[in-house]
This record gives sequence, C-alpha cells and structure tokens, in this order.
Amino acid sequence: MSVHVIADDAAKVAVLRGLIEQRHVVTSETLSSASIKRNGAEAAIVAVDIAAPDNISALKAISARLACIPKRIFVIDGKGRLPIVQAYAMGATHVLTNPPAKAALLAKLAPVEAALFPDGEIRATTMEAASAGAASIASMFSAVINGSAVDVGGAIAAGSKIANSVAENGLSDWLTAVRRHHEGTYQHCLLVTGVAVDFGLSLGLGSVDLERLYSAAMFHDIGKARIPLAVLDKPGKLDDGERALIQTHPAAGFEVLEGNAAISPEILDAVRHHHEYLDGSGYPDGLCAESISDIVRVLTISDIFAALIEHRSYKPTMPREKAYEILQGMQGKLEKALVEVFRDVALNR
Ligand SMILES: [Fe+2]
Ligand SMILES: [Fe+2]
Repeated sequence: MSVHVIADDAAKVAVLRGLIEQRHVVTSETLSSASIKRNGAEAAIVAVDIAAPDNISALKAISARLACIPKRIFVIDGKGRLPIVQAYAMGATHVLTNPPAKAALLAKLAPVEAALFPDGEIRATTMEAASAGAASIASMFSAVINGSAVDVGGAIAAGSKIANSVAENGLSDWLTAVRRHHEGTYQHCLLVTGVAVDFGLSLGLGSVDLERLYSAAMFHDIGKARIPLAVLDKPGKLDDGERALIQTHPAAGFEVLEGNAAISPEILDAVRHHHEYLDGSGYPDGLCAESISDIVRVLTISDIFAALIEHRSYKPTMPREKAYEILQGMQGKLEKALVEVFRDVALNR
C-alpha cells in the first residue's frame, strides 16, 4: 500500500519511514515544502507540532489535497486533550502520540490495507459527508475545551450533508465509511447521526423533524468534551467513579448549549435526556415515559445501536443482528413500537 509521510523535520521523516518501509511503499516530504502533488497515496502520516503557528498555516495550505487521502494518521507532540482535538480539527482520521510505537502505527494502517479490497465501493459523496461531519464534531469539541462559541450552524449544515448521503447512498455505505475512517467519539457521533437519519426516514418524518433529529444527534454527546480521554476511551470495565464521571456528559452538554439562540428547546432537551429510559432508570434526571419526547426516544435507540456496532481497536465489531437483539431485550426501557420499526434500519437498510 502507498503511504505518504509528512513531518516538520527530516529526522521525524526518517524515523517514520523506518517504522513502515518494510510493509508499505512510502513517499515523504517535509512540511515546509509539502505539496502532495499527484500523490494518490492511500494513507498519510502527518507528524508535526500542531501548536506551532507556522505549521498550522502550512497544514492549512495543503489541507484540500490532504483530504483526498482517505486515512490521515496524525502523530502529535504533547499530551492532553487539546492537541488531539486540534489534530482532528485539522483533518486527522486517527491520532497517535509521538514517538509512535511501530505496532500501533501498523495497526492504524491495517484497515486501509483491508479496504483496498472493499466489499463495496464507498461513494465519494459519503466520504465527503463523513469528512465534513468529523471536522464539525472536532471543531465543536475544541470549542468546548477552549471555552469558545460552538459553531451551531456549521454542525447543522454538516448534519444535513450526512442526511443527504444516507438518503442517497444508504445506511450501510455510511456505516462502512465511518467505521473504516474515523475513531472514538467522532466515529460514535457520526454513526448516531447516520443511524438516526435512516430511522427518521423509515418513520416517514417530515423535513423539519428530520433536521431536528440529525441536529440533536450531532450535538448529543458534546458534553463528552469535558471528560478525560483516558476514561472515555478506556478499553476495560469502568469503575464506579469513572461511570459517574461519564454520566455527567448529558448535563454538561446541556450546560454548554443552553442559552445559545441557535439551539431549539427540542434539541437542548434531547442533549440532556438521551440517556433516559421509559421506566425511569436512566440519567441524569430519572425521567419517566410521559416526560420523554418522541425525538429523544428515537435518538436513544439510535445512540445505543450505534454504540454497540462501533469499531474499536480493542474489541471485535458487533454484528448488526446481535446489536438489534440487545435492543429488543431492553424491555420497558425503550418504546416497543419504535424498536419494532427500527428492525428494518438495524438489519436491512
Ligand atoms: Fe451520550
Ligand atoms: Fe452517544
């Protein structure tokens, strides 16, 4: 497979080439003279200090051509949440910290190798919608971390692209594209949005309700920006303290968006209540059936399903059939009639 390496100094280029050259055909450039001309690489590895202003402008200058490379692995300096979020905002599909372990780097490249023999071609419009969606979610997370304003209009516009892509190209195309090219919370938010759109379409929602639904899906986990990645992406079982921390995210999301004139009360309600169950066993408010709106019921089913079928490096991807069985088993918590309609979305579409 062909991999293009871009780094901010020649030594980093040499190290990265050394790690992957045995397995892949490697081309490389240093960032200051990078152009990615007629490259055609299947993956890019970008190892730059993204806190340096010069690097940011150099990356921006090549961002359009970089975006044509399906997998973009950023290797970043520094620890903490912000550089990771910045890397995603600059177009990363995956992030590793510098110096990357050889095994981790090859593992990130492996799905692209597999993708070279795809079970079906993913359409360009789907890829485009996934990139726009991921960039929007990354920019929202970065805004929450920096305490700046969330770009609500941008997120709704990206949600609309996702809606068009799912309507035109189907849910399966969307799931494949997102699972292959994105990871973590971004993958999850993109999956929930696509699943919710398809669910909304199968329920025959009108355009106003559909827009409400995909917008709610884009924003629903924005409160997770306040939770450390070590907890959010922990492979094993969470302890009580960690679980309690995770459970603060709906109220945190509500707090972030509350008072934003561009967010409707219905969307705000969905952000706060997407983990409530009809039997009152959910959080944060322990609402019961009559207080849970239709849009929230639809979003909650989409959210659980998407979380189950996510691709994670530490666990096998759950088949859609198995995920649907789990939803069916959540009796009393989810609206039965809706779960029934969801069958077609989960299994066939
Ligand atoms: Fe959530
Ligand atoms: Fe979620």
